[in-house]
Amino acid sequence: MVQLSETFMLESQTLDQDHQVLVEMVNEITEMLDSGETVDCKAKVLEFIKFTKAHFAREEQLLNKVGYPYVAKHQKHHRELYAKMDHMLEFAGLVSVNEMARESLKTELVFFVMDDVITTDLDFKNFISGLN
Ligand SMILES: [Fe+2]
Ligand SMILES: [Fe+2]
Repeated sequence: MVQLSETFMLESQTLDQDHQVLVEMVNEITEMLDSGETVDCKAKVLEFIKFTKAHFAREEQLLNKVGYPYVAKHQKHHRELYAKMDHMLEFAGLVSVNEMARESLKTELVFFVMDDVITTDLDFKNFISGLN
C-alpha cells in the first residue's frame, strides 16, 4: 500500500488532491490483484489512465497560469509517460491468465505514480507552493 507523505505534498490543493486520488486508485488496483479479482482490472487501469491524463492537463494549465518557466519541459515529461500507460494497459489485459503480468503491473503502477508522476512534480514545488 502506497501513502503520500508530507515530503511529496506540493501545497497546491488541486494537485495534491489529484495525486491523492491517483495513489488511492493504485492501492485499489493492487488490492484487487492481491485478492485474485482480475475481471475489472483493465477497466480500473483505463480509469487510472484517464484520470492521470486529465491530471496532467490540469497541472499544465495551472503551471501556465502561474507563469512557471519550464512548462514545456514538464509537458514533454508527461507526454513521454503515455507509452508507459499503454504498456500498463496491455499488462492489465493479461492479469487473469498470467501471474507475472499481475506482479509486473503492481510494481509498474507503484513506480509510475510515485516516481514518474509525483516525485518529478517536486521540481516546481517551490514555484507553486501556496499559490492556490
Ligand atoms: Fe502531478
Ligand atoms: Fe507532473
